[in-house]
Amino acid sequence: MDYRIFNADEIDHRQCYRLLIGAVVPRPIAWVSSIDENGVANLAPFSFFTTVSHYPPMVSISVGERVKQPKDTTANIEATKGYVIHTVTEGWQEAMNESSANFEPDQDEFAEIGLETVPSDLVGAPRIKDCPVAMECTHERTITFGEEWATHLVIGRVLRWHVREDLMLEDKYINPHLLQPVGRLGGPRYCRTNEIYELQAPYVQPDVGDPNSAEQQKRK
Ligand SMILES: Cc1cc2nc3c(=O)[nH]c(=O)nc-3n(C[C@H](O)[C@H](O)[C@H](O)COP(=O)(O)O)c2cc1C
Repeated sequence: MDYRIFNADEIDHRQCYRLLIGAVVPRPIAWVSSIDENGVANLAPFSFFTTVSHYPPMVSISVGERVKQPKDTTANIEATKGYVIHTVTEGWQEAMNESSANFEPDQDEFAEIGLETVPSDLVGAPRIKDCPVAMECTHERTITFGEEWATHLVIGRVLRWHVREDLMLEDKYINPHLLQPVGRLGGPRYCRTNEIYELQAPYVQPDVGDPNSAEQQKRK
């Protein structure tokens, strides 16, 4: 089998991006609500999104720049600290996509898209009404990589989860069958979670409440 080789130091930023978004798939989408110092709310999706630590619960998004300026999400989170990450699920794709448009900083994207919000409990940024899963977060740290094409890795601590009641499984887990999360692939391509299957891990790991843990496996 032949392989194409790409050396990072021989390709430009666009090709690095193409290879990353093609190789790191599917990516979950963080739909991030934030607020500026004047109280203007902002909403945007980010698929460079992952968990950082489970206890304390920390998550990260990587946010690029727009013509050498931080995007509104980065600026807002650094200024006002509290933000909300919603999980993008079936039915919410269109609104999520609309929220990625390049709105002016003083435009309220919820109003522009016609999304209803409810106040959050612990942070200033609002929560999208009826979104199945949302996490209220507080800014911990930003790490910046690159110069010409800088990216800000924004790390936050989860303060509170809002999980729609009917999605709870055994009062502990979020039921992925009912959640129907959506994933981002390369370019304008997305995927649905239509076929879920189980594969038991061959190892036994310390019980962190993970379905693969020894305690959970004994119960099966
Ligand atoms: C599905 C999806 C995923 C995206 N992921 C990212 C990402 O990980 N990082 C990023 O900088 N921009 C990403 N974008 C683009 C931002 O959403 C877009 O630049 C947005 O306007 C930023 O908004 P803001 O300036 O209000 O923060 C994504 C767009 C879409 C549709």
